[in-house]
Amino acid sequence: MNTLYYGDNLEILRNRDWFPNGAVDLIYLDPPFNSKRAYNVIFKDKKGKYPPSQIEAFDDTWQWSDETEEAMWELSKPPYPAELYRTLDAFRVALGNNDMMAYLVMMAIRLLELKRVLKKTGSIYLHCDPTASHYLKIVMDQIFGVKNFRNEIVWHYQTGGASKRHYSKKHDIILFYSKTNSYLFHPERIEIARTKKALKRAQNEKGARINKDDTTKLPEDVFEIQALNPMAKERLGYPTQKPLALLERIIQASSNEGDIVLDPFCGCGTTVAAAEKLGRKWLGIDITILAINLIEKRMKDHFPDVKFKIEEIPNSVASAKKMASTRQGKFLFEQWFVTTLGGQPFKSSGGGDTGIDGFMNFRDINNKPHTIIVSVKGGGYGPGEVRDLKGVIERENAEMGLLLALINPTKGMLSEAASAGRYQMPEVSRTYPKIQIFTVEDYFKGIRPDIPDVSETLKKAKRIKREREKQKELI
Ligand SMILES: C[S@@+](CC[C@H](N)C(=O)[O-])C[C@H]1O[C@@H](n2cnc3c(N)ncnc32)[C@H](O)[C@@H]1O
Repeated sequence: MNTLYYGDNLEILRNRDWFPNGAVDLIYLDPPFNSKRAYNVIFKDKKGKYPPSQIEAFDDTWQWSDETEEAMWELSKPPYPAELYRTLDAFRVALGNNDMMAYLVMMAIRLLELKRVLKKTGSIYLHCDPTASHYLKIVMDQIFGVKNFRNEIVWHYQTGGASKRHYSKKHDIILFYSKTNSYLFHPERIEIARTKKALKRAQNEKGARINKDDTTKLPEDVFEIQALNPMAKERLGYPTQKPLALLERIIQASSNEGDIVLDPFCGCGTTVAAAEKLGRKWLGIDITILAINLIEKRMKDHFPDVKFKIEEIPNSVASAKKMASTRQGKFLFEQWFVTTLGGQPFKSSGGGDTGIDGFMNFRDINNKPHTIIVSVKGGGYGPGEVRDLKGVIERENAEMGLLLALINPTKGMLSEAASAGRYQMPEVSRTYPKIQIFTVEDYFKGIRPDIPDVSETLKKAKRIKREREKQKELI
């Protein structure tokens, strides 16, 4: 079903119930760059104030931070391609840890996920500008393969200022890649006006500048399409809104009716509006609630019969509570909490209650795998549930248990958990609570469960191994 997702597209795309492998026919993305400048002019909320939390929500994502460092570390390991990491590492040497580098890392990790969700016959169009397009092309070559590069499209427009210091800047770049060599492409479908009158009408309606010569030609890699001027009818006031004509051209050429079109940075919904108009199904993701609200209104105003739903990723205790308050939302809440903490959600195939909602795995310094059982409580619970988890750990021969809860525990529950004792990591002088209760409030305070960190353990293992080897040499 047509869906708008509210939240960080990386988290949303990683939810495999929402985005299974090879589910999408066409992706268009127009990620923000230098967003601070763009979003400080975003329109105000109902009370006439800027929504700073919303601005911060995505501004931080694109600056060098712990999150970028973590993404870089993730990219250094399988299943991600080693060549991509080496390329990014080389960029890091050249650029340093600046905003451009953060942008490239955060794009790379998202593009990998987008490749996973794209069908074999699918295509992806990445909209950027000459500030970053040369770096992004190398990243795209690594992810989609040089042989799947189809075009560097120049979107030529007339708006913007003139300069005497350099040639006036009048174009954006759109990188077009397919997933494989057998991809869907129908440029002949792009509407071409045949008479002078039709030409003029098309120009007025779509803002498209079409030359008479174009009436015989197949479309070329320079798109002459007017950017939205301040008076344009379709203008909604969103600072980076793209013209419908641009998206219609892409959707017509690279998808069929009924196909699924995804825009993971959907802004005020130009892609989803064009997809709806052309009879495609659509999925849009945005991290700004303003964007989601605006798209909702845009779609209802322009397509009164349109059907779609809105899904969200919690970004506060209140929104987590809201999510868990419905029957379907309860399951999503469980999934969200488990995956957000790096676990694997679990549902028994028989449908019975096994007392297990997820697993987490870690390795000790001898590389032996161990399991943490995860149980999620989206509603009320008591010491009985803590005891149940103890039983499941014994039954499953696991090392530890994590009870993830929406509601804060009472003293009785905490002492029940503490009575389970502590888990001692083999050969490491470090213990962890055998059972711990971790709440949504903890999570939004930035606290994380006290469980073995794989990277930390491996580092320790390497150090101990080196020390042992040194000792052997001395003997
Ligand atoms: C350049 S705008 C897209 C404009 C869009 N093409 C249109 O025509 O309206 C980029 C959008 O990406 C969103 N965004 C930024 N970081 C995001 C993230 N991590 N996940 C999802 N959306 C994000 C911003 O809120 C913004 O609406």
